[in-house]
Amino acid sequence: MASPVLLYACTGIEPEPWIDAFRLHMPELEVRLWPEAGNPADIDYVLAWKQPPGLLQALPNLKAIFSLGAGVEHVLSDHTLPAGIPLVRMVDPGLTTGMVEFVLLCVLRYHRRLPEHEINQKAHRWQALTPKLPQDQRVGIMGLGELGAACAQSLVALGFDVASWSRTPKLVAGVKSFHGPAGLAPFLNRTDMVVCLLPLTADTENILNAETLAALPQGAYVINAARGRHLVEEDLLAALDSGHIAGATLDVFRHEPLPPDHPFWSHPKVTVIPHCAALTQPKTAARTIADNIRRYQSGQPLLYVVDPGRGY
Ligand code: NAP
Ligand code: GLV
Repeated sequence: MASPVLLYACTGIEPEPWIDAFRLHMPELEVRLWPEAGNPADIDYVLAWKQPPGLLQALPNLKAIFSLGAGVEHVLSDHTLPAGIPLVRMVDPGLTTGMVEFVLLCVLRYHRRLPEHEINQKAHRWQALTPKLPQDQRVGIMGLGELGAACAQSLVALGFDVASWSRTPKLVAGVKSFHGPAGLAPFLNRTDMVVCLLPLTADTENILNAETLAALPQGAYVINAARGRHLVEEDLLAALDSGHIAGATLDVFRHEPLPPDHPFWSHPKVTVIPHCAALTQPKTAARTIADNIRRYQSGQPLLYVVDPGRGY
């Protein structure tokens, strides 16, 4: 059998670590770097991140598209995407670990009142601040998928009062499950810190808006580690300025890089992180892709295939 060929079509991401990782986990895989694809008919698989529009439809023997990210809207937004070719989202232990670290970091920072200590330090003010007990800190995770579930479990292990909101009901030990449109308001009403880990779809775009932010209790915190288009930025600014929302940590933005004159950069209640809450780690992710290619080659169904109708 001829060696399988994977085309690396990831804009802005260094290919070398991927080449090394594939060499280790699937030495028989030939990796070509776009735009030097050679004969388009040779390409079996594509690893895509913001791939050039139209590229995928030009590959007549494509068997599967692997998204370099967990979010796949960057692939689905290509209107020339060939129908019927499976799109596989990224599930990577390294990415999951990164997101768990990030969410714990943000929740603990607010829980232990670090922003207030930073203000006090600037004023040379010595003031011990009592944190809440973790069981009195109500954290809410929007999206209880691969990443949300791992974050929720780690927060439960630290003793936080954790709830989730998802499309379908969930059973995760220690996590109160809310679901569907009817579950959103009760979920928000009981959430002191909301963490967005939803995929970006027609149903979730702009989900953090004036109405949903108002449904959070006074003094709540917002952590968005999903996509910028989940959040109506002006609505968050208004809620921060009115004092209803106490602070926000934002890793993702409607326009990336965040424009230099954007009010988030200098807002005293906003922490800006440049879309690196969790990054796909070639060392661990290449292994998942290699295992999935082997599944395909041996006639088993691919794992983590996106439902194009749902958009995730
Ligand atoms: P996933 O496993 O596909 O999980 C998605 C979750 O969202 C599921 O629990 C799903 O509910 C829920 N959901 C989807 N549509 C919904 C709706 N309309 N209402 C309520 N719940 C809905 O995704 P994942 O791997 O955890 O990744 C989540 C997202 O994180 C990605 O799509 C990406 O945008 C973002 N991300 C960001 C970074 C970063 O660095 N900032 C890194 C990685 C990923 P059901 O289970 O009931 O279907
Ligand atoms: C990063 O944003 C991802 O979707 O993996």
